[in-house]
Amino acid sequence: MASGEPSPGGGAARRPLHSAQAVDVASASNFRAFELLHLHLDLRAEFGPPGPGVGSRGLSGTAVLDLRCLEPEGAVELRLDSHPCLEVTAAALRRERPGSEEPPAEPVSFYTQPFSHYGQALCVSFPQPCSAAERLQVLLTYRVGEGPGVCWLAPEQTAGKKKPFVYTQGQAVLNRAFFPCFDTPAVKYKYSALIEVPDGFTAVMSASTWEKRGPNKFFFQMCQPIPSYLIALAIGDLVSAEVGPRSRVWAEPCLIDAAKEEYNGVIEEFLATGEKLFGPYVWGRYDLLFMPPSFPFGGMENPCLTFVTPCLLAGDRSLADVIIHEISHSWFGNLVTNANWGEFWLNEGFTMYAQRRISTILFGVDPDDTYNETPYEKGFCFVSYLAHLVGDQDQFDNFLKAYVHEFKFQSILADDFLDFYLEYFPELKKKRVDIIPGFEFDRWLNTPGWPPYLPDLSPGDSLMKPAEELAQLWAAEELDVKAIEAVAISPWKTYQLVYFLDKILQKSPLPPGNVKTLGETYPSISNARNAELRLRWGQIVLKNDHQEDFWKVKEFLHNQGKQKYTLPLYHAMMGGSEVAQTLAKETFASTASQLHSNVVNYVQQIVAPKGS
Ligand code: BES
Ligand code: ZN
Repeated sequence: MASGEPSPGGGAARRPLHSAQAVDVASASNFRAFELLHLHLDLRAEFGPPGPGVGSRGLSGTAVLDLRCLEPEGAVELRLDSHPCLEVTAAALRRERPGSEEPPAEPVSFYTQPFSHYGQALCVSFPQPCSAAERLQVLLTYRVGEGPGVCWLAPEQTAGKKKPFVYTQGQAVLNRAFFPCFDTPAVKYKYSALIEVPDGFTAVMSASTWEKRGPNKFFFQMCQPIPSYLIALAIGDLVSAEVGPRSRVWAEPCLIDAAKEEYNGVIEEFLATGEKLFGPYVWGRYDLLFMPPSFPFGGMENPCLTFVTPCLLAGDRSLADVIIHEISHSWFGNLVTNANWGEFWLNEGFTMYAQRRISTILFGVDPDDTYNETPYEKGFCFVSYLAHLVGDQDQFDNFLKAYVHEFKFQSILADDFLDFYLEYFPELKKKRVDIIPGFEFDRWLNTPGWPPYLPDLSPGDSLMKPAEELAQLWAAEELDVKAIEAVAISPWKTYQLVYFLDKILQKSPLPPGNVKTLGETYPSISNARNAELRLRWGQIVLKNDHQEDFWKVKEFLHNQGKQKYTLPLYHAMMGGSEVAQTLAKETFASTASQLHSNVVNYVQQIVAPKGS
């Protein structure tokens, strides 16, 4: 949406944005030359063996882009993001002509241009240049089989093990390997799709509406503008169950009862709390799709339909923070979006802050969770710092609501947000809080290193202290069995156990024998089914070369393919004994075919670094 246009649904002109000039170095497209009004996908899915031959698995059909030329001087070509795995076989152009109702689509020529290892440009040439403000429609016929954007799974790789499955993961730059597009978060548009599936399959998408059209076709419409990376599709043996007035869970039949059991009634509470804090939930419905075990993330905030790892079916609701996180993206990320991936913290830092606001309101304590990567945690610290400058939680909550309202359906840069913050709080602007020595906004955003301000997490201390002390006991040369037995861990929440294991890992390797005793003392840890605990037990086992339990690491890596679990375990194995390194190579050899292609590449780098 161009800056300065009226806000969707009318209203005052919107503020001019820094992001209107922002470049996106990750896009090969000329997305500034056109307004993308609508995308329609008409695709037929076929399951078959992998590979290029006839009858192999693939999606084929058309992508139709409705465009308006924005170049004052006109344009001679449309340049889209694409990928070598997209076989485009035809391009056609429909142009507005005075007097003709639906002008015919005429074939036009096209060619590709190399861009980077993650994509190429697809250039569609216009026989005559289009003029400023002219509307046109570009129709592309294509097929996509194997590639990084569309993930095909064989029956054995699903929970039910009976039928194949396919899904797409767009973030960050993978949707150009799903359909040709402006694959930049700077651009938003509405889309529709008609998906044909083989008998006995169900298609779902990140769309406002889901409609069955005959036995094998599904029609979708997304009624709000979204960036390309949020368009998502999954096809499989899927069923759904209602878990609230505006949410359903989707899963393979064998998982649906567990999914319903775990999430029935809770989603609505999360949504309602989010709405109270950040303004209307504009997406209509919030469904959850439980993915096959190799899904590489905990959750992916595809609008209307968050994709989640089946690891979330922990049986104890302990991992609801992932759902709250993805729900928070409904405002931060999906409604107000980073304009390029260099500003990723605007999506994740605000979402961490929103997630913790919701948890604090619902559960009282602010449970420190398990993620600490920079855009997430430093972003969270920066937002916390800005809240601290304001000094009053209610005022800051109101500001967050106003922030979402101000920028909704747009993509922004940090400067857009900071200008707004300082205008909203003129006293802070007068005090020049943006240049307080040591805490300059510019330093927050552009200097690497530890955040200059750490939010007050002391309410969590009383929960974390005992875990820390117990870890200390386990690190002793001579175990103080009495003191250890005096600490009952059975009432501990999962995040306390997680914290305890993090401390144990920090202190590892422990004196010989201690890890063995630890595992025997707490079977609820060493035999846990909860993925966060299994990850950490695996890391501890490897750091201490506790070979007796190596099989658990292997089993865990065979059971799921989440990136944040998989990479640390391979790092630990390759940093360990010869036996551990062999375990890494064997496990990778037997699981690689089930992992997401990005994850395969990362693990390859760990197990057999290029140039080694
Ligand atoms: N949008 C992210 C996942 C993502 C990030 C996918 C970058 C592709 C590229 C999602 O919202 C996320 O952050 N998921 C976290 C869970 C969360 C509780 C921190 C995850 O998957 O671990
Ligand atoms: Zn996120």
